[in-house]
Amino acid sequence: MSDQRFAKPIRMLHSLLAICMLTQLAIGELMDVPEVEAPPSAGLSWIVPAFAHEGHHQAIPGAPVEATLGFEVHEFLGLTVAALILIRLLLAMTSLPGANWRELTPWASAAGRSQLGLEIRTQMAGWKQGKLASPEDGEAVARSVHGLILLSGLIMGVTGVILFFGWSTTAPQTELIELVASTHEVVVGGLEALLGAHILAVILHQRQGHHILDRIKPTD
Ligand code: HEM
Repeated sequence: MSDQRFAKPIRMLHSLLAICMLTQLAIGELMDVPEVEAPPSAGLSWIVPAFAHEGHHQAIPGAPVEATLGFEVHEFLGLTVAALILIRLLLAMTSLPGANWRELTPWASAAGRSQLGLEIRTQMAGWKQGKLASPEDGEAVARSVHGLILLSGLIMGVTGVILFFGWSTTAPQTELIELVASTHEVVVGGLEALLGAHILAVILHQRQGHHILDRIKPTD
């Protein structure tokens, strides 16, 4: 893969995913969530404020809480991102250049795991100084990050779709929906860290003249 470009559908999907996902993450952090406050219960009362966004609460008891524009955009952009990730996962079943799931999960094979170990041992000292090895010297770490980004994106999509159908604006959430919402909130932290590492790695590679953007840009 090191000398090849990603297949055209992967490159186009990457641009769409990058735009939609970064916008979605920004909206998700800034929006108000419409929710009906549950009566305080001794066991769970500390969890909800710890994970939930600043809520947009019920003004009149019994009336539905009005959804904010930010929340509505988040819902529909979320369904779009989930569909794009689904298409990417379908492409992972093909042998298009750079597309197959094996490229995204080096840890799943013994050879991939030893390549990962080798890269970590030989490249760690450089990473600490902000220097990244050329892609020709191995890409198992980078591909693992790509795989983990898509895996966390998938978890965000699945939990988001459940919330889309299960989130109530007229009553406190059920315990199941609270659990799904907490998973959605915890996984987004990991996804943001992975994307931060991904974008930082791209900047460092480009500065070192590795021209990796040429492999993923959507135009020919
Ligand atoms: C400013 C934002 C971004 C830039 C500049 C960027 C850049 C890149 C580059 C240069 C590659 C190719 C790496 C290589 O040569 O091996 C790549 C691959 C990849 N990026 Fe990004 N990326 C960005 C945002 C994102 C986002 C938001 C996602 C979330 C889905 C993402 C997921 C991936 C994945 C999964 C791959 C591997 C290609 C694939 O298997 O689909 N990137 N990115």
